[in-house]
This record gives sequence, C-alpha cells and structure tokens, in this order.
Amino acid sequence: MKDLKNYVEQNKDRFLSELFELIRIPSVSAQESHKDDMYRAAQWIAEKLVADGADKAEVFKTDGHPVVYGEKIIDKSLPTVLVYGHYDVQPAEPLDLWKSPAFEPEVREGKIFARGADDDKGQSFMHFKAFEYMVKTGQLPCNVKFMIEGEEEIGSPSLGKFCEQNKKMLASDVILVSDTSMISPDIPSITTGLRGLTYVEVEVTGPNRDLHSGLYGGAVANPVNVMAKMIASLTDENGRITVKGFYDDVEELSDEERKEMARAPFNLDHYKKEIDVAEVGGEKGYSTNERTGIRPSLDVNGIWGGYTEKGAKTILPSKAYAKISMRLVPHQDSKKIAELFKAHFESIAPKTVKVKVNYLHGGEGYVSPTDTVEYQAASKAYETSFGKKPIPVRSGGSIPIISLFEKVLGVKSILMGFGLESDAIHGPNENYPLQQFYKGIETIPYFYKYYAEMKK
Ligand code: BES
Ligand code: MN
Ligand code: MN
Repeated sequence: MKDLKNYVEQNKDRFLSELFELIRIPSVSAQESHKDDMYRAAQWIAEKLVADGADKAEVFKTDGHPVVYGEKIIDKSLPTVLVYGHYDVQPAEPLDLWKSPAFEPEVREGKIFARGADDDKGQSFMHFKAFEYMVKTGQLPCNVKFMIEGEEEIGSPSLGKFCEQNKKMLASDVILVSDTSMISPDIPSITTGLRGLTYVEVEVTGPNRDLHSGLYGGAVANPVNVMAKMIASLTDENGRITVKGFYDDVEELSDEERKEMARAPFNLDHYKKEIDVAEVGGEKGYSTNERTGIRPSLDVNGIWGGYTEKGAKTILPSKAYAKISMRLVPHQDSKKIAELFKAHFESIAPKTVKVKVNYLHGGEGYVSPTDTVEYQAASKAYETSFGKKPIPVRSGGSIPIISLFEKVLGVKSILMGFGLESDAIHGPNENYPLQQFYKGIETIPYFYKYYAEMKK
C-alpha cells in the first residue's frame, strides 16, 4: 500500500486528537444519565465517517441507543466489507481508582489512558482512519459499510431487530471487527472463537423483613448464609459446574485440536504475576487457555444483601442477591442454559427460603474457520505489518451479536483485534498502547488489499 507508513506518521497527532474528541463523550450505555451522550457520540461518528470519505452516514434511532450506519460504494460488482464496532463503553466506576479522569484521555508511558481507549472506541476508530487513508490516496479496492452500535456492553438488545429490518442495506461479503485482543505486541493473533453468555440475577428471600439477629438468630434461616451455600455448590471440587445438564451440548475438542491450541505461546508465571494471584484455579484437566477458550465457566459478578454500610448493625436480613454470569462455548444455547440454571437453583433451595431467578441477557458463542479467503486475507495483513504469521486463538470473551450476524445476515465475521490483555478493559485505568493503535491503522488497509485480490 503506497505511502501507508508515511501517511500514518504524518497524521498521527491529528488521529490522536480526533480519537480524544470521541473518548471525551462519556457514552456509557448502561447508565440512563448518559442517554444524550449516546446520541452525541453517534452523531460525532456519522460526521466523521463522511469527513473520512463515506458517501453518506446516518444515525438510526432504535428502541435503545442509536446505531450509526455509513457506506462508500465504489462499484456494486466488487466485494463489500461491513465494519462493525461499538461506541458505547462500560461504566467508569469506581472513579477514585483512576490515575487520570476516565473521560479525559491522557498519554502516559506510550499508552492512551481513558474509558473506551481500547474497548471499543480506540479499536473502531482505527477503521475510520484506515478508511480515510484508502479513500484519500485512491486505494480503496472494494465497497465499505460501517455499522457502529451503542449497546454492545449491555448485550446489543436492539441490534438484532435493526439487522432484520435492514438486511438489504447491510448486505456484505464479510464483517470485519476490531474488538478483541492479540497475544502480545510482537506475537500477533487472530481471534477464532468467542464464548457465549447467560447472565442472571438471583434473589433469595427469607423472613418478610429484616429481623433482630439476637432475637431471631439461630432460629430462622438467614438468606445471605443460605445463598452463599447455594452458590458455593454451583461448582464442585474439580471446578465443574453442577447445574444439571449444563455440559450436555459442550463440544469436546479432539486431542489434535488441543495440541494445536497448546502451541500458542503462553507464560503462566507472567499471567499470575500480572493479576497478582499465587495460583490459578478452574476445571481440572484443562490448561488456563483451555479453561477460557473451550470450556464454559460460571462466576458471581456481584453479591449483596443485609447491612453493608459503615459500622455494625445487628440484623438477620430478609433478602440476598447475586449476579451470575455463565460463559458458554459453541453449541451451548444461552436460553436453554438459563432454563437449566433456573430449574437447578430452585431445586437446591431449602424450604426456609424463596428464590427468584431473572434472566438479564445472553447470546451464543462463535467460531471462525481458518480455511477461508477472509481469514487468509486477515492473516496476510498481520504478517505484512507485524512480520509474523498470526496465531489463531479462541478468546474467553463474548460479543454475542457476532453469532447473530451469522444467523440474521448470513455473513461470517473476522475478528481482527489489536488490544492487549493488559489494556484493563472494563476496569479502572483502561489503556491502549499508541503502538497498537498506529499498527492497527497500518494493518487494516492490507486486509482490504489482499481480500479484494483473493476474491477476484
Ligand atoms: N470487546 C469485548 C469482548 C472481548 C474483549 C472479546 C477482548 C475478546 C477479547 C466486548 O466489548 C465485551 O466486553 N463483551 C461483553 C459481553 C456483553 C454481553 C456485556 C463481555 O464479554 O463481557
Ligand atoms: Mn468491546
Ligand atoms: Mn467490553
């Protein structure tokens, strides 16, 4: 690609200041108070796409937060790439743990620190600039469409319907996504698997009101104690999930496939050190990468009940709550797992309490084949800019809409992520190394080039 490196070098400060404008809009999809910011961010992106060379871009209202759609059609007979990304971000709380304010981006130690710096403003934005480069230098080899949504972090509740209603507009040959990570800055990888998700909230009720823990303690079952026991029983001593029927549809990988997976470089000591744990834990018989890549998991995301303010209060609480997520592997069905969980959780509740299980959201896992033109084009693109052939890796994270794209639009996605595991996405001090940002912009145009060549 002509002058790509130069182009990025000459424009790198502008790229950064543009990205910072987007990051400064606190588009937190989960928080009602940011409703206007969602619209502002969508509008900003639509304007940017046009400035970057799109024929048109529009902000579409949905039942939830808006979707931005933009396109540049150069020749209907050429292939079409649909770029998907999300402009919504996770809440920034707890704010006091940020070294610099979450929505005031700052570069320190060669990294952009801010909420959304990686997930997914930084990563989506690389596509805008790669597109700008190809248009401005007359090197765009195919048609491009952009669909940037504002509800990924809350489970994309409106996007399925949006796709159903706009199938024609969204028609494409491949969906290109940068919303995942790679092994390390010098070991490129392509994500070939994502886990599905079932997210529930449980409510355990004991007595009809908080009781005096002296007058009643020992005589009436405490729902917090009871729920703790119930939750503890959801995994056994081998780290297996005890929900009846949970593993029924789990795909077992062959020894060959597991051997292939184990070839990806991984350092358990670094892994432990990075998150400061003395030992890792999980399902017996599986490696760390297998535990996140090909095995399902169950985690409490939050737990509360009774008195949690300062000081002591002597009560036996009426209620206990927990939020529980289950990460699923391909073939497990998120709705079926929700049913199984509900039946199991109700069945293990003692008569002393009542339980309610609420399904919050979910979606299916995804696997991407590696023997396709799309994958090969992505692989060659990384190889060109990183100097090494990327390794296919199954990630433990989820982007539930990706499997829905396959179902509704009939199109496979390529997950060309440039994030790093150390980017602290969803946590305080989220960051994105400048090197990954610029390298991403230098890699994406090669995908277009090779893809267009191979499709001919
Ligand atoms: N971009 C992430 C998913 C991800 C990150 C996949 C890194 C692979 C590597 C995405 O924004 C995300 O956070 N997804 C949610 C799912 C959602 C339903 C809330 C997740 O995985 O928790
Ligand atoms: Mn994301
Ligand atoms: Mn995320």
